[in-house]
Amino acid sequence: MENSRPSWTSRLTFILAAVGSAVGLGNIWRFPYIMGQNGGAIFLLVYLGLILTICFIPLFAELAMGKITKKECIGAYESVNPKFKLLGFLNPLTGILISSFYFIVGGWIIKYIILSVSESKITDFGEYFTAFTQDSIPACVYTLLFLFICVFFSARGIKKGIEFANNVLMPLFAVILIGLIIYSLNLPNAKLGLEYMFKPDFTKINAQMFLAALGQALFTLSIGMGALLTYGSYIKEDKSITKSTYTIILSDTLFALMAGIMIFPAIFSFGLEPNSGAGLVFVTLPHIFAQMHYGNIVSAAFFVLLLAAAITSGISILEVPIASMSERLKISRKKACTYLFLIISAIAIPATLSFGALSNITLLNKSIFDFLDFITSSLLMPLNALFLCVIAGWFLKIKGGHFIQNKFLSFLFDIGLKFIVPIILISLLYIGLK
Ligand code: PHE
Repeated sequence: MENSRPSWTSRLTFILAAVGSAVGLGNIWRFPYIMGQNGGAIFLLVYLGLILTICFIPLFAELAMGKITKKECIGAYESVNPKFKLLGFLNPLTGILISSFYFIVGGWIIKYIILSVSESKITDFGEYFTAFTQDSIPACVYTLLFLFICVFFSARGIKKGIEFANNVLMPLFAVILIGLIIYSLNLPNAKLGLEYMFKPDFTKINAQMFLAALGQALFTLSIGMGALLTYGSYIKEDKSITKSTYTIILSDTLFALMAGIMIFPAIFSFGLEPNSGAGLVFVTLPHIFAQMHYGNIVSAAFFVLLLAAAITSGISILEVPIASMSERLKISRKKACTYLFLIISAIAIPATLSFGALSNITLLNKSIFDFLDFITSSLLMPLNALFLCVIAGWFLKIKGGHFIQNKFLSFLFDIGLKFIVPIILISLLYIGLK
């Protein structure tokens, strides 16, 4: 049992871990397909607008609340007012539910790395993907393997586990991404992909797109689950979080754009459509890799990249329930990791099986996997972000003036935190649940 709370070795390791949390499947798997389904460049414009204006506020508030209270989520909320304890508890709960489906996708990535380096002659990747996800035992083994890798790093603690994983995997991620972008931009007709990304068609703008963009922005910035609050609680007193907030937002946005610049030129170069949904990375891209020169090497590099991003985010998701369990129940980190492994497995296995053996079980007319995705991204994350803004703005009284020099900007921050962002989140919840 650690007596004193752990803290980051330096500002850089904190930023790397926070960027590692933000940059994940949300950027490389989810962002391109959501953009593909919502009209390309115009979606990007709306998304960038939201990220650069509205998302700064809850992101900063989460980090600040962690840094000020120096507690895991439940304790942080409780220290503002004991009545908020239950609201704090929603964060680790959301973490457990998100990990139960996020880790399934992590498992698919491991499978695709193995597939890339094996001598397979697959002709129909759509059929292959469906058959693989329906095959109960291997699918569960891959989910548990990915969960095990993340829990392994987490169990080693902040410095030896989380910092180590981020220090190694984030540079690896950036190098592979840059390599793949250069490759992709040199494909014939790469220009069409760039046009799709950067030439907005204003006739396609609609309310649904705003909703999709805001949901994506919260998810990709890891807002509304306590991950940044927990990471923020390990920041030493004297370190400012204003610059870190900008760095996280800018890096996450840059990586999402880079993922698009890597993926869309390849899709257009091979004459395919970018709107195939969640299968974009697991069906459309493998189809392209199969036709490329050195396609198996490119494919392996791509999925290793995706794995690196998924692990650093996965670790940050786990950190929320780990910190809450070990600090509240006063058990060691390793024990908390073991319990968590069992709890997440108990939810993730049925969710994995919901593609095959348990496909007939539905909750709110959705498969278990889709249900977990829905209640976390459409309900719990916006709800947590809403509670956070209200508590930070109205009760903890976090003020822009404490960290923003410019009077007008700090005024905007204050009304943003107290009114604008909560109203937007309530609308998001209302439309999402309708
Ligand atoms: N931001 C991560 C991604 O883009 C996902 C995540 C959500 C991580 C919530 C932590 C908390 O993949």
